[in-house]
Amino acid sequence: MDVAVVGATGAVGETIVHVLEERKLPVGTLRPLASRSQHAAVRFRGRALDVHPASTEQLRDADVVFFAGGEDASALYAPAILERGGVVIDNSPAFRMRDGVPLIVPDVNGDAVSAADRLFPVANCTAIILASALRVIRDAAGLGSVWVATYQAASGAGRAGLEELEAQERAVLDELADPTPGVFPRVLARNVVPQVGTLDSLGWTSEERKICEETRKMLSMPHLKLRATAVRVPVRTAHSAAVVFETRDETTVAHLADAFAAGSGIVFHASGIVTPREVEGGDAVHVARLRSFDEVYPERSRGTTAFAMWVVGDQLRKGAATTAVQILELLLAKGYLTA
Ligand SMILES: NC(=O)c1ccc[n+]([C@@H]2O[C@H](COP(=O)([O-])OP(=O)(O)OC[C@H]3O[C@@H](n4cnc5c(N)ncnc54)[C@H](OP(=O)(O)O)[C@@H]3O)[C@@H](O)[C@H]2O)c1
Repeated sequence: MDVAVVGATGAVGETIVHVLEERKLPVGTLRPLASRSQHAAVRFRGRALDVHPASTEQLRDADVVFFAGGEDASALYAPAILERGGVVIDNSPAFRMRDGVPLIVPDVNGDAVSAADRLFPVANCTAIILASALRVIRDAAGLGSVWVATYQAASGAGRAGLEELEAQERAVLDELADPTPGVFPRVLARNVVPQVGTLDSLGWTSEERKICEETRKMLSMPHLKLRATAVRVPVRTAHSAAVVFETRDETTVAHLADAFAAGSGIVFHASGIVTPREVEGGDAVHVARLRSFDEVYPERSRGTTAFAMWVVGDQLRKGAATTAVQILELLLAKGYLTA
């Protein structure tokens, strides 16, 4: 199987290469591509592979192309690959909300893949982490309304975001003047910034819209009442979310806790807390601080519909690269693609 990774030198692309190796995918040839060739070689299975600029020619023989080079690169190269029957697994937003294109996270909606599908957008990183947890609640007690506030890491804005945070942290330690922010709309070091993506005329950000629309699509709940506020925090990697939700049916913390404990791809913390630093580098979605708003009222202790929880996941892995590779694994397992 000839595999190409467009954007192989970026935060997501580099992680895709690692995860392909870690999970022992049956890759014959791996082609690391970027926008330019002036990059250190990419290491795969102990070999150093030169990076080439992406082009139609470089992608001509690839059976599977992972895109992690931004929306423009996906929109430019994906159509020709699909035209000749190749598989496209795309981390950009270019095709996510297109009608008839499934938005697959194998743990959440793997059964939505059909043999004819060749285009697989990978959903927004926060939406993947959120949908992984909400899917368990939907199946255990039905899902009513969801309110979420996110706490998103600097590397969610790619290598440049991480480098900007590091430069600002150094400036703080050296007691220098704050560097002018470039990637983020305000200085992120020792701060929180309530804007992820671009602001629209109604006051919502592009990230908040993606979280709501893409989570609804993954859960097959187009009318789910889901509201998000997305906030950037000075964390390197792993996104967190404080989630308040109502179930459709009355239920208990114990029932939801059992469902989470049995949930595929979920690590449930029945007590205590979990933080982004602890989950960085892992593939699970972590759920902690599950609690009921109504347990303070003894007369409601048999069941209620109002709950809160804390959800954390590594957005470069589960929120992007691991899910992308798991889509390929799913195609191979179902026999929709042969190695
Ligand atoms: N960071 C995250 O947490 C995250 C999570 C989910 C999805 N995503 C999505 O994944 C994609 C990559 O994000 P990232 O954070 O990894 O960005 P990044 O760290 O900035 O890396 C971008 C990569 O794409 C390459 N590239 C840029 N323009 C290109 C072009 N026209 N043709 C070919 N390669 C090109 C870059 O190579 P050069 O250096 O040579 O330009 C680099 O290898 C984006 O669509 C992003 O929305 C990111």
